[in-house]
Amino acid sequence: MIYPITLFGAPILRKVAEPVNMPVGELQEFAANMFETMNKAEGVGLAAPQVGRSWRVFVIDTAEVADQYKEEPDLKYFRRVFVNPEILEHSSETCVSNEGCLSIPDIHEDVTRPKSIKIKYMDENLQEHIEDLTGFKARVVQHEYDHLEGKLHVDYLNILKKKLLKSKLSAMARGKVKTKYMVAAPGK
Ligand code: NI
Repeated sequence: MIYPITLFGAPILRKVAEPVNMPVGELQEFAANMFETMNKAEGVGLAAPQVGRSWRVFVIDTAEVADQYKEEPDLKYFRRVFVNPEILEHSSETCVSNEGCLSIPDIHEDVTRPKSIKIKYMDENLQEHIEDLTGFKARVVQHEYDHLEGKLHVDYLNILKKKLLKSKLSAMARGKVKTKYMVAAPGK
């Protein structure tokens, strides 16, 4: 099942999401729907608040972009469900990369983030994992994790950049945006 994607301006994108405690079967079904929704929209990550659920869950699948990151061949197999994740450590070393977000179509901006993280999470079978991630994997995970905290990639921009984007973002919040994928009505 494909969910409509919530766009910038919807209050749910600004809420801190709630820990998940649901039966494995429901969780697996939700995760499958999240992957389907994300693939249809050609994204590499999708968090539950982006489909109108204030839950601490996100999915990632970087296979489609693996060719763009030759130095990280394992991106081809980086497909994960993250349930109740907790970032345990950030590296002090940072890096800059261009990011987009399915909830903020057509706005791609450079964002500085820690280069590596250590994360604890449960998968869709409620098995616990602790993983060290670096490079593009760490970046996507941090972007999606931010969604669970009510934070968006545009929040990292400097004042000048924010000013430049203001009219575009307020138009988006009023539903004035075109996407190739199904979106929720503004404010929902
Ligand atoms: Ni996003």
